[in-house]
Amino acid sequence: MAEPSAEIGIIGGSGFYSLIDGAQEVTLSTPYGEPSDPIVLADIADRKVAFIPRHGRDHRHPPHRINYRANLWALRSLGVRQILAPCAVGSLRPELGPGMVVVPDQLVDRTSGRAQTYFDVSAVHVPFADPYCQIGRDVVLRGAAEAGEDCVDGGTMVVIEGPRFSTRAESQWYAAQGWALINMTGYPEAALARELAMCYVPIALVTDLDAGLGIGSGVRQDEVFQIFDANLPRLRALVLSTVARLPAERTCECTRALDGIDLPIEIPGYG
Ligand code: ADE
Repeated sequence: MAEPSAEIGIIGGSGFYSLIDGAQEVTLSTPYGEPSDPIVLADIADRKVAFIPRHGRDHRHPPHRINYRANLWALRSLGVRQILAPCAVGSLRPELGPGMVVVPDQLVDRTSGRAQTYFDVSAVHVPFADPYCQIGRDVVLRGAAEAGEDCVDGGTMVVIEGPRFSTRAESQWYAAQGWALINMTGYPEAALARELAMCYVPIALVTDLDAGLGIGSGVRQDEVFQIFDANLPRLRALVLSTVARLPAERTCECTRALDGIDLPIEIPGYG
């Protein structure tokens, strides 16, 4: 039997415990430990896709305990070079209501203490000014427009440590910075993808108005899950149609993230 392989990875968030029914499931171990769960492989629109549920199938990994390094490394070692990352987010702006889909263009890291790099032993600094693959973002936005799906282009996502939701004051402060969205898993995932020269595109589903917007008694987990579940078919359709449209040849900046760097570790399939 051929070695398991894939070119596109999907890291599914809350509620995305299975996205595809795969012909094959692979259990991988990495130098950084175990990924969140076995990885499901499938062919979608003639593309080889690997799916991993970020929190595990039974939602056992809270955001601050996810082994992000193992997840990204496992995908890279299967051959994945492009990652779609659907996720649940809170809104920091009244005009971005629950059910809306946003493709963020910027990120602010407010996490702490997470293993956020593969380069612990020598000084390697990857470019991260634009944290997301611009070509991948355009593919999602164009596909959504053609499917008549409203999808907002851009917005800064602040990633908090969690696992609790924010206080009203924290949330008001984030909003006052001009940030649009809030979540708990977008970092270090995007940075680790960049460290492995992979493309990474978040597809954010707004599940709630964050506490600072002053509505109700603040965010509740059951409401987040309920809105996510209700919108899952739309999000799934968008993710799957994006798979079919991603370019087979990468020409984006992400491919050049490690150019000119003397790598202290061997990255699967690099160089
Ligand atoms: N994920 C979904 N909604 C969120 C919120 N309001 N804050 C942080 N993470 C979230």
